[in-house]
Amino acid sequence: MVNPSSVVAALPRRPLVVGNWKMNGSRVANGELLAALRSAGPFDAEVAVCCPFPYLPDVALSLQGSGIGWGAQDCSSHESGAYTGEVSAGMLAEFGCRYVIVGHSERRVHHGESDQVVADKARIALSHGLTPIVCVGESDAEYEGGLTESVVKRQLSAVVHTLGHCVSQIVVAYEPVWAIGTGKTALPEQAQAVHAVLRAQLAAASTRAAEMRLLYGGSVTASNAQAMFLQPDIDGGLVGGASLKASEFSATCRAAMAAALESSGKSKK
Ligand code: PGA
Repeated sequence: MVNPSSVVAALPRRPLVVGNWKMNGSRVANGELLAALRSAGPFDAEVAVCCPFPYLPDVALSLQGSGIGWGAQDCSSHESGAYTGEVSAGMLAEFGCRYVIVGHSERRVHHGESDQVVADKARIALSHGLTPIVCVGESDAEYEGGLTESVVKRQLSAVVHTLGHCVSQIVVAYEPVWAIGTGKTALPEQAQAVHAVLRAQLAAASTRAAEMRLLYGGSVTASNAQAMFLQPDIDGGLVGGASLKASEFSATCRAAMAAALESSGKSKK
């Protein structure tokens, strides 16, 4: 009998699956979802949920001691001050957040966030001990125009320049915009090709790029997760719709671990 934690420790990168609840939930529904998720655990993969700001105290209370982390979906690029409606990274840290998503395409598109603003958010998140999950991804038109690589490189390059070698402390999520919430997933090989480009770009900036976790996001479900997570540079997922159902999300988390074990040639038997 192999000790699961020693198997996990032997993996080059521990898989990470993060639920992005977006603007969904209610106090009652969240409590039920998290109770079901807790009882589905523990997970060998690292698991976290990113909830709307007002739910953070409830989520922290529900998940305390479960091994499941929590975080937010955005933070301000400013430290504090006259920024009505914004929430600072320091405030998120006070609620025990481990992660904060920055640069989600819904923020870039609906709130006009530039590559530099996203990079500034990543910098300020790190300075408060949070791990930013930096999202990159091309739109439908950019995809059709063959611009995927240049778009994601441009988006990541602002972050690399702003963070320097500290870029190794972030998580990157590749989310093709055309795959978000549409039920259209990128083919695993397509996503892998983009992940390989991103890891090469990170390797030019940090000697620790091989240890960094790169997630795929965009219509990930329990049934397509394993094929995606089997790809060599895909270390887990950022999961929207499927994170709102405990059974679907926990199956996705297990798929991430199964894929990691399979690709490393290790078994937990
Ligand atoms: P989806 O969302 O899984 O519902 O496509 C993913 C995301 O936007 O992070």
